[in-house]
Amino acid sequence: AAPCDIYASGGTPCVAAHSTTRALYSAFSGALYQVKRGSDGATTDIKPLAAGSVANGPAQDTFCAGTTCLISVIYDQSGRGNHLTQAPPGGFQGPEANGYDNLASGIGAPVTLDGQKAYGVFVSPGTGYRNNNAKGIAVRDEAEGMYAVLDGTHYNDGCCFDYGNAETSGRDTGNGHMETIYFGDNTVWGSGAGAGPWIMADLENGLFSGPNVKNNAGDPSISHRFLTAVVKGGPNKWAIRGANAASGGLSTYYSGARPNAAGYNPMSKEGAIVLGIGGDNSVGAQGTFYEGVMTTGYPSDATENAVQADVVAAKYAIAPLTSGPALSVGSSVSLRATTSGYTTRYLAHTGATVNTQVVSSSSATALKQQASWTVRTGLATASGGQCFSFEARDAPGSYLRHYNFELRVANSDGSKQFREDATFCTQAGLSGSGTVSVRAWGFPTRYFRHYNNGGYAASNGGVHTFDAAGSFNDDVSWAVATGFA
Ligand code: AHR
Ligand code: AHR
Ligand code: AHR
Repeated sequence: AAPCDIYASGGTPCVAAHSTTRALYSAFSGALYQVKRGSDGATTDIKPLAAGSVANGPAQDTFCAGTTCLISVIYDQSGRGNHLTQAPPGGFQGPEANGYDNLASGIGAPVTLDGQKAYGVFVSPGTGYRNNNAKGIAVRDEAEGMYAVLDGTHYNDGCCFDYGNAETSGRDTGNGHMETIYFGDNTVWGSGAGAGPWIMADLENGLFSGPNVKNNAGDPSISHRFLTAVVKGGPNKWAIRGANAASGGLSTYYSGARPNAAGYNPMSKEGAIVLGIGGDNSVGAQGTFYEGVMTTGYPSDATENAVQADVVAAKYAIAPLTSGPALSVGSSVSLRATTSGYTTRYLAHTGATVNTQVVSSSSATALKQQASWTVRTGLATASGGQCFSFEARDAPGSYLRHYNFELRVANSDGSKQFREDATFCTQAGLSGSGTVSVRAWGFPTRYFRHYNNGGYAASNGGVHTFDAAGSFNDDVSWAVATGFA
């Protein structure tokens, strides 16, 4: 049995079931998600390899070969049509045109399930999915349950990496108008034991770790690479539970009465669905979502325990974040532009500014150094040592980073933000021919790009001038060679 079969036999059936990695019903063989590619805007649906099975990740790889892909729809497997699509503007605007949120890259969160390649939904700040017309989701004080499988190492303190029940207007309509799983280390509202991250419940105008508005020491910091998070709520009761999604069982971190603050008992749930954002379309958070469901009725602990056993049996494991030409840690490399007319130019820096410059074996030593980068293991903890950072050859301790999606060279301040902004994952160049493309670990839709000879972390056809779709593939494809210095 799969998760939604288990919830159904427990008398609390799924009313929404979302996953880009696998079927959540043993009989489900329909579309799991849709990807849209950058080259021609075409879309395709990714299905399980067989009924009840793992997503056909290789089909995505084939469809997206030589271009970029975005996850454009995460289908609802429950049959209720509660699909998740690009979130519209709400109380806050998203970064895309007309205030929409960003869509996730197709390749930011590769995994295997029992050895089969699949992709999760890597949510960067700015990314969000929503359904404001969902059917059959709990409203008012009705009971519901939720679980999600997340990456417990990918989080931040922005508001709010949520999955679950939110306002149909995209606006903050008051306390008790939401009920979602939250994951991260935001401390504006609640917190648990230690420094976080924590599984909390976003109940609107509050992230709750237990009955108290602020701290509840019973909610532990938890950061399993694959993390099962559970929130459920009914009339004057709710619970938070969590587990390692790769082994063992669920622990209960809170189970009891509604919070001791006005507006949360009874609840005023509205029945829309969010993923990766707050109820009011706050878009500051990051995290990774692999699968999750919402039920009608308050699931028993025993039902959830059986779901957790099924998640463990799915055998989630990490998959490579890099591909293409190998870079060797400790070596010095140069990256030469391959766009016609610019092939004598190399990725370089002039002080903090990143640009391309014409460099050759007869250039001055200073310029050679400015166009040479020492390859380091990716500084972002959550990249798991898989990706790379690029230290300036002439400024040890300074690294290539993105800031407002411009590339810069800056001295590391050691912060999580810096380390994540300075971590990049390599892949075979989008234009082929032995080149390499270098995407931002934290924003996998964005690649090292030269534009007007400046250096950017650019997306394919995004809102910035430097995101222009014209010559994107060539501008993000670099010939890698031994550094000049
Ligand atoms: O409850 C925390 C956040 O507060 C909600 O997600 C958002 O709607 C509001 O800003
Ligand atoms: O480059 C995008 C973002 O801009 C970085 O992640 C952040 O440090 C800055 O605000
Ligand atoms: O960086 C040089 C060129 O500037 C890029 O190839 C093009 O996209 C932009 O006009």
